[in-house]
Amino acid sequence: MSQFLLNKNGILVACVLALTLGNCTSKTPPLEYFNQMYDSYAREAQEEDYFSKNKSASRIPPYGAIPVGYKPYPYISVQTPDSLEGATKGLVSPITTPTLNDYRVGEQKYLTYCAPCHGNQGLGNGSVVGPYPRFATVPPSVVSTKIKAWTDGQLYHIITMGRGVMGSYAYQIEPEDRWKLISYVRKLQDYDTRTNK
Ligand code: HEC
Repeated sequence: MSQFLLNKNGILVACVLALTLGNCTSKTPPLEYFNQMYDSYAREAQEEDYFSKNKSASRIPPYGAIPVGYKPYPYISVQTPDSLEGATKGLVSPITTPTLNDYRVGEQKYLTYCAPCHGNQGLGNGSVVGPYPRFATVPPSVVSTKIKAWTDGQLYHIITMGRGVMGSYAYQIEPEDRWKLISYVRKLQDYDTRTNK
């Protein structure tokens, strides 16, 4: 083989092959020359990392690490909104005077995440209640005298932590949107007070 490549014919064949095959679409990734600008030293998430114990570039964050801007919820160990203590019973809403836009966001979140069970007006007669009368616990009204007396912090707690058969909505609703949702629930309660009493 090496003999063949060294003689004249061999070189000619090699040149022809190089010219014709050079035009073919390659199935392998193209060769990269001077690739320092493409490959940085930082490891990508799914890459292999020889310096890591399990050879994975994805590291487990150190114990207690929290994402930038994340505020841990201080009442995570409190079981139910009723067991929250203090005058404010939970966090205080940062929204003192809700704007029209706050109500709009709150309404949108309420109709998406709460209304299927608690009803569009908060009466506990959402669209899933009728077809599933076997619900272990029928969703209660959120415009009852009891919930009207709840603090914003208690409402925030039930949205964040859930209670009984009602799950947590912490993953679906951002903290600031929870407060907007609560402002909207207060509007539903006002409406109920004005129309029913
Ligand atoms: C899948 C149905 C369902 C959804 C969706 C749902 N809830 Fe509930 N909710 C319930 C049930 C059932 C209870 C009673 C839970 C218990 O005590 O076991 C409840 C309880 C409550 C209570 C306490 C009522 C009381 O009288 O004690 C409030 C307030 C409340 N939900 C608000 C909300 C809000 C706000 C949302 C939207 C973020 C929401 N819920 C979404 C089913 C639901």
